[in-house]
Amino acid sequence: MKPVMLVAGTRPEIIKLAPVVKWLRSFGVDHVFVWSGQHYDYQLSRVFFKEFDLDEADVNLEVGSGSHAQQTAQIITGVERLIGEYEPSVVVAEGDTNTVLAAALSAVKCLVPFAHVEAGLRSWNMRMPEEVNRRVADVVASLHFAPTELAALNLLFEGIPSRSIHVTGNTIIDALQESMSRVNKVSGEVLSKFGLKRDDFILVTLHRAENTDYPERLKSILEALDDLSQYYPVVFPMHPRTRNAVAKSSLSKFLSQVMLTESLGYFEFLALLSNCRVVLTDSGGVQEEAFTLKTPTVTLRYNTERPETTLYGINVLAGVEKDRIVKLALIQAERIKEVRGLSFKNPLGDCQAGKRIARLLMEAVDRGLAIEEPDLRETPVVEYRFFNERSEFKDSSLLFDLLAVFDEDGKPTLPREYKSRFLARIKTRFEL
Ligand code: UD1
Ligand code: UDP
Repeated sequence: MKPVMLVAGTRPEIIKLAPVVKWLRSFGVDHVFVWSGQHYDYQLSRVFFKEFDLDEADVNLEVGSGSHAQQTAQIITGVERLIGEYEPSVVVAEGDTNTVLAAALSAVKCLVPFAHVEAGLRSWNMRMPEEVNRRVADVVASLHFAPTELAALNLLFEGIPSRSIHVTGNTIIDALQESMSRVNKVSGEVLSKFGLKRDDFILVTLHRAENTDYPERLKSILEALDDLSQYYPVVFPMHPRTRNAVAKSSLSKFLSQVMLTESLGYFEFLALLSNCRVVLTDSGGVQEEAFTLKTPTVTLRYNTERPETTLYGINVLAGVEKDRIVKLALIQAERIKEVRGLSFKNPLGDCQAGKRIARLLMEAVDRGLAIEEPDLRETPVVEYRFFNERSEFKDSSLLFDLLAVFDEDGKPTLPREYKSRFLARIKTRFEL
């Protein structure tokens, strides 16, 4: 049997693919794990393989850092070569990095189906490299594993056929939940290492290009941290991109009262995230984890592709103006008891995403998933139509792709969940 090829290259991709790998292993699915080498520091790569008990990657393309074009081009070329070598049944990647964009393009150009984990997230911000990457990946994917219903609807309204979309939950919830017993064991030790008390410090992560690569924005954020350090200890594990940006600037003076560390391993980081009073972040994964751990969050961005995290005000979008960051951080700090006391069903997932995705991959491969050439000789003209439930269909040979179905309040739902007499009377292409 041809192997499933997983391609990853950065910190969050190991964390979020680990649950899929675990289940592929447990279902006995042959797979090959490719590491692009986009991240290469131990603290951004191998530490997570160790913590998640993953074998070393089968192949490391060692592309390293570079401009978007250089990095993406090298990964495209490398993955293309590996596809030739391993002849995978499907290529899988997670998220929105250059590694994902490259894996998706290599796969489809080699006529191998691409499966996108965490499909359908949208920030609507085309200045963000990740938004470009995830949109392109979704356009070419044959399988879309949408973490939430909203992500699935985003795909549907971009014209992605509903038959390729599966709402699976986000694998970060699996990873987080599985790590918590280890995290709880080390929490006391981690807090005392940094001299911190539970619910009495602010945690910061920062690495988005739109924040680190614009000195005015970086300055404004660092000034806010300086102000906030008068109220609470501020601890800041620094991503190398940010460390380099600060080193090149004259901004380190704003960090004199801030506790700086290198990037942390997952368990140590979660020990801080689950015990801090507020987290300030521009990370995607950290927004999801903080929401799940009920840690008040201030996101240092103007938009988020994870809008579910703003439910109950757990996450608020601050942008990068200093005064607004400080004000929102202090307001969120006062809400700690209220937020920790919330009780809700997590819209981001139920710890089963890895298993669902592995099973869907296995089934798709068994069915012979392939990029097919459509035969439209008899029906070359596409028609778009609205129907209502009482529509009569004289031509019973018509095939339909239902793009969206609306309930009585006008809210869209996924067509595959729409079971009615209406659907029973027509043949839909996604049922074939
Ligand atoms: C990348 C992803 C981003 C993701 C993040 C996860 C893209 C466009 N960006 O951002 O979506 O959220 O990973 O952390 O794919 N560097 C090191 N050591 C390393 C890796 C990077 O020092 O191991 C430094 C280099 O100076 C490099 C810079 O960090 O130029 C940026 O690295 P890069 O991989 O281009 O982007 P990230 O900011 O890590
Ligand atoms: N993380 C970590 N150590 C750190 C900072 C973050 O283990 O010092 C984890 C965090 O828990 C989350 C992931 O890294 O699971 C988020 O990665 P990042 O912020 O780099 O990328 P993004 O999610 O924004 O793509």
